[in-house]
Amino acid sequence: MPLLPIRTYPDPVLRRECKPAQPGSDEIKELASDMLETMYAAPGIGLAAPQVGQSIRMIVVDILGHLGERDPHVLLNPEITGASETIAFEEGCLSLPEFTVEVDRSRVVEVKYQNLEGEELKLTAEDLFAVAIQHEMDHLEGRLLLDHSSVVRRDLYRRKARKMRAQVP
Ligand code: NI
Repeated sequence: MPLLPIRTYPDPVLRRECKPAQPGSDEIKELASDMLETMYAAPGIGLAAPQVGQSIRMIVVDILGHLGERDPHVLLNPEITGASETIAFEEGCLSLPEFTVEVDRSRVVEVKYQNLEGEELKLTAEDLFAVAIQHEMDHLEGRLLLDHSSVVRRDLYRRKARKMRAQVP
């Protein structure tokens, strides 16, 4: 299973709104499995399809992966159907190296989604799991952590990203 290159800001694919995912095909199963391996290798606790260049509504999340355990979740076409009060959480993103920002997220979310076979499912996520799902779902709308930050910090990061890119041969 190949590791996929992770797209970083300002790659335009990160700003595109994603199309519905079509469950059931071998291709989408392979993509999900490659995304999980890519996320574990990074390491990260979540990855959205646009981060590997695919504008489709699929995310993978595993908040235990970085602890050496495995609890993978693959969500196609996720929708939030219920949300609690918010908490502030310091977040980073594999597509925004060296950037973190505190974001207000619901502490508990109810999500309906499809699995890779196309079954309609529901889950309730709390704390880090809930935050990770909301973060990855932002990617499906082309939203990045930068959009949760102040204009000043966004501009600073834009300049830094340009410099980091200039150093890549
Ligand atoms: Ni991200």
